[in-house]
Amino acid sequence: MPFTPLPATFVEDLRPFGPLRAGCHEVLELGSGDGLFTDLLRREGVEPVTLDRRRRATGAAPVICGDALEPPLRARFRVVVAANLLRHLWPRIRANGPRRWRDLVAPDGCLWIFEDEPLANPPAARHYRDLQALLAGLDPRTRGPLLASREFRRQRGLWDWTGRWRDGTAVNHWPLSAPRVVEFLSAGLTGADGDAARLVAAIARDGVTCGRYWWSRWQPEAI
Ligand SMILES: C[S@@+](CC[C@H](N)C(=O)[O-])C[C@H]1O[C@@H](n2cnc3c(N)ncnc32)[C@H](O)[C@@H]1O
Repeated sequence: MPFTPLPATFVEDLRPFGPLRAGCHEVLELGSGDGLFTDLLRREGVEPVTLDRRRRATGAAPVICGDALEPPLRARFRVVVAANLLRHLWPRIRANGPRRWRDLVAPDGCLWIFEDEPLANPPAARHYRDLQALLAGLDPRTRGPLLASREFRRQRGLWDWTGRWRDGTAVNHWPLSAPRVVEFLSAGLTGADGDAARLVAAIARDGVTCGRYWWSRWQPEAI
């Protein structure tokens, strides 16, 4: 789910800051999906170049269709942002990071990563974590369970990336609808789906919430 509110530093980075250099563009959104995060960018007055590996039959279509880890792009951007994407790529990038993303960032630009934090409590946030794990189990080739900020930061310390990282967390007030999640899960349930049935019952009882999210900002050099 998208992230509300967005960090003030991110909103600041989205503000234009002078004329663009040749070959440099404003904002690239990787893994734009159904366009919910794109809408948040638009609310900040930004029209991003979007990239997703899937062209959807309905809803938002990405400007570029391709693998975010092998983006068919030579341009550089002032802001590259990946929201709810890293966890899906984690097995592929855990060791060295999403290396090509560094080439996409302008020398005075930055990369932003947003992810939901997997929480054990409160129960409504745990159910969200378990929901993502369940979906990842159904489609392990293309989805991943929530990625903890601690795991990300530990691993990132082993990458040979120069530059500067900054991190933060925030409560995600994105309004997730428990009845709609229950409806979505129940629609695909068969008698054999014990975990899904248990999760449906738990969400009906406790509700479901995105909980907290974490962000990480990288810039090529400490300015
Ligand atoms: C959970 S959705 C997030 C959508 C959007 N960023 C948001 O937060 O509203 C993850 C998206 O990443 C896309 N995705 C997963 N792996 C990808 C890859 N290797 N390259 C490009 N897109 C990918 C999926 O197709 C999906 O649209």
